[in-house]
Amino acid sequence: MAARWLFARNFIRHPYMLGSLIPSSRFLVNQVLDPIDWERARVIVEYGPGVGTFTGEIVRRMNPEARLVAIEMNSDFVRFLQTSILDSRLHVELGSAADVMQVLRRLGLPAADYIISGIPLGSMPESLRADIVQKSQAALGPRGEFLVYQFTSRVLPVLRRTFRQVRRRIELRNVPPAQLFLCADKVT
Ligand SMILES: C[S@@+](CC[C@H](N)C(=O)[O-])C[C@H]1O[C@@H](n2cnc3c(N)ncnc32)[C@H](O)[C@@H]1O
Repeated sequence: MAARWLFARNFIRHPYMLGSLIPSSRFLVNQVLDPIDWERARVIVEYGPGVGTFTGEIVRRMNPEARLVAIEMNSDFVRFLQTSILDSRLHVELGSAADVMQVLRRLGLPAADYIISGIPLGSMPESLRADIVQKSQAALGPRGEFLVYQFTSRVLPVLRRTFRQVRRRIELRNVPPAQLFLCADKVT
């Protein structure tokens, strides 16, 4: 309940940065996380963890050797996550998704196996959206996958320009209904 209230309060202050009044549903969390090969995934990055709706579930599913790097721009959420999910495999970083390469380098981690993005790419200026998608591609290893959930399909053109394979899904059991884009095979 405290998490939902914190999320709603921050939505009122930063509606464009959050994009939604309530955290994602468990149906959306499952659809996004189900394609992940948890045995292979050693470095996972999450953009925009908010109050940790995905983060907690990723930590629960991931390998004991894996690391999760959660990059969040909102300092209230960073403080909340640092005290609510206590796991030595999790690194919560205050910053922008556009800093992904520097964050991985600073933590001494190799390229990511998966990047899960819940940030509102569709409502960002086109140049920032393209910058974040390209930096994400660069931060992924050769078999890496970029898993994106959004409330619009505005991000699709840049995803198609950047990845050879973009599969689409929809999850209606979320407020608002969400689109998923599962991107693989980097165009190098
Ligand atoms: C729609 S909320 C998703 C929250 C949570 N992942 C969920 O699914 O319930 C978007 C989150 O992305 C964060 N955010 C927005 N732009 C960001 C950026 N450029 N880098 C990192 N986080 C960002 C917001 O602060 C917010 O926590």
